[in-house]
Amino acid sequence: MDATRQRFLMCRPTYFAVEYTINPWMDPSAPVDTDLAVRQWERLRQIYLDLGHTVEEITPLPGLPDMVFAANGGTVIDGRAMAVQFRDPQRADESPAYRAWFEAAGFEMYDPKHVNEGEGDILLAGDHLLAGTGFRTAHASHAQLQEVFGYPVVTMQLVNPRFYHLDTALNVLDERTVAYLPEAFSPGSQAVLRRLFPDAVHATMADAKVLGLNAVSDGRHVVLPEQATGLAAKLRDRGYETLGVDLSELRRAGGGPKCCTLRLRQGKASQ
Ligand code: ARG
Repeated sequence: MDATRQRFLMCRPTYFAVEYTINPWMDPSAPVDTDLAVRQWERLRQIYLDLGHTVEEITPLPGLPDMVFAANGGTVIDGRAMAVQFRDPQRADESPAYRAWFEAAGFEMYDPKHVNEGEGDILLAGDHLLAGTGFRTAHASHAQLQEVFGYPVVTMQLVNPRFYHLDTALNVLDERTVAYLPEAFSPGSQAVLRRLFPDAVHATMADAKVLGLNAVSDGRHVVLPEQATGLAAKLRDRGYETLGVDLSELRRAGGGPKCCTLRLRQGKASQ
């Protein structure tokens, strides 16, 4: 199995907190240890660097406690960046900050016409763009994604509010394979997943509940929450190398490694 060198965008959780509830993981009455969140995040960043990936950083802004979740900052494929439109007003101001970063970095910009929470809900899997809906990203945005990126978009209907973003219920392991929690999807979407990925890894609820599917794969190494031991064993059986990371503090906001990481994809030639 070949690892592909990746270029990631991350946002240090300097102002991380749980101050509002926009998913069932978030309990503003439970105290958050921001210093611990920063240390856990730094460990994740170091794992990427040790694997030979490049990590870019966007400056965190005060008053935006969820800005650490860079996957929601956009969708970046083949040198094109689609900005985001959040469902919830609490996250709205993150969008222009990420947009400005993409523009300064030289990506060709596109603006969303509907609610679109970036790579939280939009996942490139081989030649398909899997696009979640049901909680955040609007179904209407899927047609725009297809026009902008030119990949066939496959709608994935999410049904369990704990798995409100597609990247909490499904992980792209490489060009051919995904791992997912079947019961997080509608019966029709489950049938589509079986058709597209007959060899997929099926995760259990126990693994999904520790956000085990919120993993980052370079095609060979899979960085995932260390609590997801069952999923890690299944992935090793398939020949992947797993690297466990503890992001317990960020999980209080409903986020894991993948949420903290936005893949920046250049044009095909340069990856
Ligand atoms: N608290 C954030 C929210 O509810 C968590 C976002 C996690 N990001 C992700 N890509 N799943 O929006």
